[in-house]
Amino acid sequence: MSAKQTIVLSSDHAGIDLRKVIADHVIAKGYEVMDIGPTSPESTHYPKHGEAAARKVASGEADLGIILCGTGQGIMMAANKVKGVRCGVCNDTFSARMIRQHNNANMLSMGVRVLGEGLVLDIVDAYLDAEFEGGRHGTRVDMITALEEG
Ligand code: RB5
Repeated sequence: MSAKQTIVLSSDHAGIDLRKVIADHVIAKGYEVMDIGPTSPESTHYPKHGEAAARKVASGEADLGIILCGTGQGIMMAANKVKGVRCGVCNDTFSARMIRQHNNANMLSMGVRVLGEGLVLDIVDAYLDAEFEGGRHGTRVDMITALEEG
């Protein structure tokens, strides 16, 4: 049996409660969870949490990352500044499937003020259950990676 994949979870203050729901859900699906907080509901700055989660993925400590902020946008922008990370905001299941199949996204971001809990979990399932297709999509992902070298 292959080792369990590890998912790093993080958010800003907007995502604290939903992060716990996602953690329980992905553990039930058979993943390990590395929840790196924050745990306090006090207002915090999404870039540092996006960066922290992205570094766990970039270093290989986590296989995948799921991050949350009010819209999903700010924390995604921060995560994508870390070399090796491909993160997309998905507020629908089609996009969540496609960022894995075509873009080999290693992080998923969602907007907790955009979505309800049921749709969030459907999006998580669509993302995790999809597989990268490679082929021409691999060529395109390699082109994204090449941009990191300037
Ligand atoms: C915080 O109020 C909010 O700006 C943040 O959660 C997020 O939506 C930023 O993109």
